[in-house]
Order: sequence, then structure tokens, then C-alpha cells
Amino acid sequence: MAEPHVEEVIQGHAETAQDVDLALTPDEEAFLLGATGLPDASALRAHILRVQSDAAEVFPYPCIRRFDFVKLKISNLPCYDRLLSLPQQHPDALLLDIGCCFGTDIRKAIADGFPAHNIIGSDLRPEFWDIGHKLFQTDPGTFPVTFLAGDVLAPSFTGYDPICSSTPATQAPALKSLATLAPLAGRVHAVHASNFFHLFSEANQAAVARTLGALLAPVRGAMLFGTHVGRPVMGFRTEAPPPAPGYLGNRMFCHDAQSWAALWDGEVFEKGTVKVEAKVVEQSRDDLVVLQPGVTFYQLIWCVTRL
Ligand SMILES: C[S@@+](CC[C@H](N)C(=O)[O-])C[C@H]1O[C@@H](n2cnc3c(N)ncnc32)[C@H](O)[C@@H]1O
Repeated sequence: MAEPHVEEVIQGHAETAQDVDLALTPDEEAFLLGATGLPDASALRAHILRVQSDAAEVFPYPCIRRFDFVKLKISNLPCYDRLLSLPQQHPDALLLDIGCCFGTDIRKAIADGFPAHNIIGSDLRPEFWDIGHKLFQTDPGTFPVTFLAGDVLAPSFTGYDPICSSTPATQAPALKSLATLAPLAGRVHAVHASNFFHLFSEANQAAVARTLGALLAPVRGAMLFGTHVGRPVMGFRTEAPPPAPGYLGNRMFCHDAQSWAALWDGEVFEKGTVKVEAKVVEQSRDDLVVLQPGVTFYQLIWCVTRL
């Protein structure tokens, strides 16, 4: 049983983060200019700043403050090419982006060839999906990807299913008919979850992992993947500033590569039925007002693949 959602109940002082400059890589700028249709870099910059201020009013995640919503994440993950090749092996392969926020990673995957009609975005806050339309200057008619609003910790939204070991006997539901993720149990070939798991307590990270694992299709190559805050040795991120709204700070629970692998291979899935690739890398965090000089932050980069 999942615990109350810690992220929602934390109240603290907001003096833990500071504004950072909007800095796009050439790839990000090219993708955003193409996807938004804006004429040049200065129009793009002004547009992103306007969208950022709308989004901060919805919920002040540090990732919004530091412009993560325009950074390319999915395409920098080591298993991205495998994701793009899934539709060749399974023509109806579904991709779920959980905690998709504005849907930037979804739009990148579509630009790189993943079929838009086989993608589901899901987030607790539908306002972020609407802001995604504003950012990319689309609407549900011009960008008809299925979006499902809901809480990943609510079994009524995600389903009550165990890990699926055989292909569901019933016909797959039409994505546009869905109101929840529950009918997708055992039907999703790829789940992307970036900057998501670290929002939850240790127990809730395990609950979310089981929930997402139950959505995964029981076929070789089906995968869950992403990146979020990690540590070289699992535990709380004690070096970080205290919690603030939307930010667990030094109460954030972080897995290391070994504990993350053990969670998936043995707890979520039967041991030996998945391959877990996980590594912890240093991350620069200019946005955090660090208490001790020289503190290092880390990101866990991972992919769990059915054998
Ligand atoms: C830090 S943002 C990450 C967004 C995006 N995946 C990225 O990498 O930039 C976390 C997202 O998870 C969503 N979220 C938070 N709690 C959630 C929950 N319980 N169920 C579903 N989505 C949730 C938030 O609304 C937000 O859009």
C-alpha cells in the first residue's frame, strides 16, 4: 500500500533554489525551433520565458525554474535507439511517458520517428500538458497524443494488477477511449520516467515501480527507462538544502545503482527475468543554494529490459 504523497505535504521555505540562465544546446535549439515553428532564437527565448512563468504558477518544481522542460532528456538516454526501434519489432508498441509534464520528451520521440498514435502521456497535473500545447503552439487537434491525468499512486488510476507474465487475452483498448492507465496492464512496451521517482519516498518508489512494472508487456525487449536523482550509496540526499514546496531537498530518498537494480530484478520482477542497466553520474546543479561548498550531486541513469 502506497504512503501519503510526501511531495504534496512538504511545506518549507523556498530559499533553496535560485534562478539559472536559459542555456540551450544547439540540438535543443534546433529541436525547439522546429517543433514550435518560431522564427529565431530570440523569439524562442522570449516564448520560453513566458511559458516558464505560467508553469511556475501551476507548481514550483525546481525543474521548471531551471528550464528542464526544454532540455532534451529522453534522447540522451543510452537506450533511446532501442526505444526507437521497438515499433519495427512490435508495430503496435506503446510508449508511456509517466510524469510527462509538458510532453517535451514525447515530442522529441515523435520527431525521431516513434508513432504519435501509440504514445500516452500521463501526469498528475493536466495544466502542465496544456502548457505544453502553449509551448509548442499546438492544440489537441493538431497534436492528438493521448494524455491521461492521474496520480500514479492511486490504484484506481493505475490498476490493481500483478506483474503480467502472459499476453492479455482481450483486445487492446483504443487509446482514445481510456480515462485511466488501468486497462493498459501488460500492454505497454516502453515506459519512460525521468525526474520522477525521486519525488517519492523509498516505499512509494517501490510502489510506483511495481505499478509501472505491471503495465509492461510480457515480451522480450519491453523496457522501462529514465533518469532521476541518485547517490553513490543509497540514502537521503543529506547535502541538499532543506525541503521547499515541490522539492524534497535533504529528505529526498535516493537509490544507488545496486539498490535500484535489486528493486527491479527480484522485487518488482522475478529475479533473472529482466536486465537492469544502471549507473550513477555526477550532475551539476547551479540552481541549488548549496550549504557546503564542493558538494556533488548525482543522477541515476537506468533501463530495465525484459529478457
Ligand atoms: C520534476 S517533473 C519531471 C517532468 C519530466 N518528466 C522531465 O523529466 O522534465 C515531475 C512531474 O511528475 C508529475 N507528478 C508528480 N507527482 C505525480 C504523481 N503522483 N502521479 C503522476 N505524476 C506526478 C508532476 O506533475 C511533474 O509534471
